[in-house]
Amino acid sequence: MLTKAPRGTNDILASDSYKWQYIEEKARDLCRRFGYGEIRTPTFEHTELFLRGVGDTTDVVEKQMYTFEDKGNRSITLRPEGTASAARAYIEHNLGAQPLPVKLFYLIPCFRYEKPQAGRLREFHQFGVEVFGSQAPTVDAEIISLAMLFLSELGLQELALNINSIGCPTCRKAYNEVLIAYFKEHYDELCDTCKSRLERNPLRILDCKSPICGALAKKAPKLIDYLCSGCREHFDAVKTALDGMGIAYTVDPDIVRGLDYYTKTVFEITSNDIGSQSAVCGGGRYDGLIEELGGAPTPGIGFALGIERLLMVMEQKGLSFGEVEPPKLYVASIGAAADAYAETLVYHLRKNGISCEKDRMGRSLKAQMKYADKSGYQYTVVLGDDEIAQKKAVLKRMSDGESVTVELDEIENYLK
Ligand code: HAM
Repeated sequence: MLTKAPRGTNDILASDSYKWQYIEEKARDLCRRFGYGEIRTPTFEHTELFLRGVGDTTDVVEKQMYTFEDKGNRSITLRPEGTASAARAYIEHNLGAQPLPVKLFYLIPCFRYEKPQAGRLREFHQFGVEVFGSQAPTVDAEIISLAMLFLSELGLQELALNINSIGCPTCRKAYNEVLIAYFKEHYDELCDTCKSRLERNPLRILDCKSPICGALAKKAPKLIDYLCSGCREHFDAVKTALDGMGIAYTVDPDIVRGLDYYTKTVFEITSNDIGSQSAVCGGGRYDGLIEELGGAPTPGIGFALGIERLLMVMEQKGLSFGEVEPPKLYVASIGAAADAYAETLVYHLRKNGISCEKDRMGRSLKAQMKYADKSGYQYTVVLGDDEIAQKKAVLKRMSDGESVTVELDEIENYLK
């Protein structure tokens, strides 16, 4: 227990964290180009936020939340996703007073009590974006294009984009009746959770993980066939905007998404390289969420992309995570005086932007050089009593062994 991280969590070691940094830098750069500002919200929120925001008949709320009482007897939940928090912050800080639309992004850890497997964790990380305040179908296309461009700039061109529309409360009302009638005919076959969802929220049965409910859902009437004219026009305009940007998609009437706040456009980006957990990215419009949480009616749309799943796909495809510059200089030393000099020199160089290191383990000169070679230092310099007396030393380039004698004071300029 003591030496094992909790199930479904991962340590990201220094040997891997450069991959995360690469992905995060890409995300930040792309958001800058698209005009999104970063929002950082707390890791935990009042439980009520997710009950209302995500929906109390969803799997996330019913089965997966890390909820606990704090010492002040408040019910607190580790965020299972980022949208509800962003919406809460939008209301709390009256962001709607800013010029609209308000465009936000985040890179956050999320927590869901799920059965861990490849690509499914209990603590995982999301890169997400949210746009508040615009109903324009071109915004739907913009965020989809951001997700697709992000993946393509990371080297993933051939992921599948599936889109659907799940309508607004008007079309949903008519559809719910049809859906309830359909599932009532198969009531005995439904799992217990879905039986309890039938009258309260029949749409949730469509993304039940049980194989029998899943098979019934496949044959159920599709929401896309019941859209009102406004939702149909919106969806057509999203498709036209995607066509205009040359972004290929498939309309998949089976996408309903697992969270309650969605309206109109929903989409998922999948890769068949990561088995059953194939959704790398999921998102959609949520025009009723801000109002549901107590704010003024405000449309919204966003997506979140799972970083662990993205990493899995990138690694499977052997993609690059950028070049990491090897450390610059290793200062080897012989004797106490040289060691003390090395200490000062290393501090001075670090202060001036040069990555460098010296021995801390009392290694012999031979062992110091072996360490420098193994750690990938670009240059080494060896200091002994003579070098310090003459204020000169031999700087060696490790790639080809080329050596030059430099003034100790000049090392900095030489390496820059
Ligand atoms: P979601 O589909 O629940 O949507 O999650 C988005 C992405 O997070 C998934 O596609 C997946 O890559 C990753 N993910 C989810 N659960 C896990 C897990 N247990 N382990 C590893 N990765 C996971 C949302 O969270 C919405 N908030 C997205 C959104 C933003 N919709 C509108 N705005």
